[in-house]
Amino acid sequence: MKTRLPSLLVDIKEGVIDLGWGHPSPRLHPLEAVRAAADRLLSRGDTEPLQYGATQGYGPYLETLAEFLSRQESYGMSVDPRSLFLTAGASQGLDLTCTLFAREGDTVLVEEPTYFVIEGIFRAHHLSVRRVLTDKNGLDVDALEDMLENEGLRPRFIYTIPSYHNPTGTVLPEDRRKRLVELAHRFDFLVLADEVYQMIHFAHVPPKPVISFDSGPDGRTISYGSFSKILSPGLRIGWIQAAPTIVDRFADAAVTFSGGGFNHFASALVKEVIDMGLLDENIGRLRVAYSERADAMDLAIRSHFGGSVDFCKPSGGYYFWLRFPGGLDTVEFLPRAEQQGVSFRPGNAFSESGRFTDFLRLTYTLYEKEELEEGVRRLADVAASFVSG
Ligand SMILES: Cc1ncc(COP(=O)(O)O)c(C=O)c1O
Repeated sequence: MKTRLPSLLVDIKEGVIDLGWGHPSPRLHPLEAVRAAADRLLSRGDTEPLQYGATQGYGPYLETLAEFLSRQESYGMSVDPRSLFLTAGASQGLDLTCTLFAREGDTVLVEEPTYFVIEGIFRAHHLSVRRVLTDKNGLDVDALEDMLENEGLRPRFIYTIPSYHNPTGTVLPEDRRKRLVELAHRFDFLVLADEVYQMIHFAHVPPKPVISFDSGPDGRTISYGSFSKILSPGLRIGWIQAAPTIVDRFADAAVTFSGGGFNHFASALVKEVIDMGLLDENIGRLRVAYSERADAMDLAIRSHFGGSVDFCKPSGGYYFWLRFPGGLDTVEFLPRAEQQGVSFRPGNAFSESGRFTDFLRLTYTLYEKEELEEGVRRLADVAASFVSG
């Protein structure tokens, strides 16, 4: 029986330039790199990748990944393979963290605004979510300290996106990273640092990952990395970096023992991609392409919106975060925009508090430069007509 079941997560209406999806560009998917790596992997006659994998992850993948991370300028630290654990992407790693490290009713903290599905993941584990303020430099560590000291809050963990925040694009400065780690030790909570955009930097490298300031055996930081943003999300491959005692908790989880390491076969494939030098090449290509697209979107926003929106050009990652100082409600405005052939993610999606209705998020990775320019032009036209009634 033929069905019309979808094949992809993106669902874009006919004729609409949808700047809402934070997905990579189809044109830049590394088909040739994956084909060459698969040929090399399969032609060796090694059947190990087809067996249940080790619970921590396929050893050769973890070793290759550790070497790869250790030579990244944006890591600036030596990564020990024993501190890594194979995940099926950051989302799965975060979900498993809740299973292993939190109990129903625990308080957990998120930045406000934050990655729009994370509150849903925490809610599915019956956790009680509290929000911490952010500013143009990311998490407001003073506000966090105040909640801990003066409100007596004792969270199980805080979830943060330190580099090229989703949706705001901000980068947490080094001093705040260090203070966050100090607070985690002083008040005994974990820092879940979602660092999936760490390597998507443009002209300058961001500060080192939060875990580089918390790398001892009693470290309280769990860093989440992913191949979704640097290779391909369809592979469903990522990693966690943490102190060995934390890694052991993941490796000893019943689900890992039952099924073996997550996405074992795909991790063997990714190991080949890295060994062949194709990952370095791919990331280099993505940085150039995304930086050019960010330039194109920046120019388009300036020329079509003039001064009618506030925003900062991101220095890496995927997103522009626009504010309408006149107070335009982006939830009400969305259907009108879609009728005119453009879409976006309204600001209130990024906090379940319902705030940020005068913001919206645009992504520049999915489309080519000409389409970005046209999408922004349509958006500015509809916004102008919406404001004038
Ligand atoms: C901050 C953040 N974390 C995690 C993810 C999803 O990562 P993965 O594909 O590795 O599950 C995304 C995807 O947009 C993201 O923006």
